[in-house]
Amino acid sequence: MAGGAGRATVRSLGNTGEDVEQMVEDVRAGLLGVPKDLSPWPKYFYDEIGSELFEEITALPEYYQTRTELSILQEKAPKIVARTGCRELVELGSGSSSKTRALLDAMVSRSGSTSGPDRYVPFDVSASALAGSAQRLVEEYPTLEISGFVGDFDHSLESLLARPRSEAFGRLVIFLGGTIGNFMPERRRAFLERLRAGLERGDYLLVGVDLIKDARVLEAAYDDAAGVTARFNKNLLNVLNRKLGGEFDPELFVHRATFDREASRVEMWLDSTVEQEVPVAALDLEVPFEAGEGMRTEISTKFTRESIAGAFDEAGLRLLDLYTDDRDLFGLALGEPA
Ligand code: AVJ
Repeated sequence: MAGGAGRATVRSLGNTGEDVEQMVEDVRAGLLGVPKDLSPWPKYFYDEIGSELFEEITALPEYYQTRTELSILQEKAPKIVARTGCRELVELGSGSSSKTRALLDAMVSRSGSTSGPDRYVPFDVSASALAGSAQRLVEEYPTLEISGFVGDFDHSLESLLARPRSEAFGRLVIFLGGTIGNFMPERRRAFLERLRAGLERGDYLLVGVDLIKDARVLEAAYDDAAGVTARFNKNLLNVLNRKLGGEFDPELFVHRATFDREASRVEMWLDSTVEQEVPVAALDLEVPFEAGEGMRTEISTKFTRESIAGAFDEAGLRLLDLYTDDRDLFGLALGEPA
């Protein structure tokens, strides 16, 4: 590490290898269901190409979420940090930590360098993303202690939150990007409960949530004019082909995105344009599709202040504030143990 810079470590919490057996089980359940439904497992979208396509999505004119969340963070970070008094920032799914700087700036400038270092704990499945961002941040924030952990939510949330922590200061656990919207209600509840169980009094949770709005705006965000989201959606078929020996032809499916106001979510579907049977070797299955038959691939739940308060509440969390942009497009929900 360069002289004068802070300290950074990246450690593994174990169990980050690809679990093909789990994938076989998930996809089998998804393809045998009626309707076919792969949306309970959003992580399968994010192979290397899927991750690149998602990065491309975040820069699309129709996809307001990423830039809006960043603008809220830039505007409200000092308020959020002052309100919580936290000196440790734990980020779930930190990726490149590109949106985190606003919070780190606020945390570091509030505490000054007087009473020991502030700490940043990024957590991600990608060891390379963690190493890269730790490297950059350590140069930018010489007083910051950076302890990165490689792991995934399914296996390592508990051990991440059970790490030794400061007696004197609370932790702010953040989960940005609206990713919680991709979880089915059951899974969302279980996830928030597990998070809640890892929090102590004086700890806080900050969750990025997309908000309900005009259906046309929502649908355009998931069906952009340049067709990037369509490619992102169809890439899931390439993932199935590569990992499970599938023989999906992406050209025989069309991308569709609809806002279901009753369920408060945008759903992405892939509709088969023809009647066909698709072999998937690892499942020992020929998957039949009728002409026009749809397969759901993703849900992206949209919230109101009330619905995020309810989701927090059922997990033992109290909503303290919902920080939004001036057009109420996106929100950052701040909660604490109830
Ligand atoms: C991963 C939650 C940020 O649901 O908006 C973007 C994923 N899917 N376009 C979302 C996604 C299609 C995205 N998040």
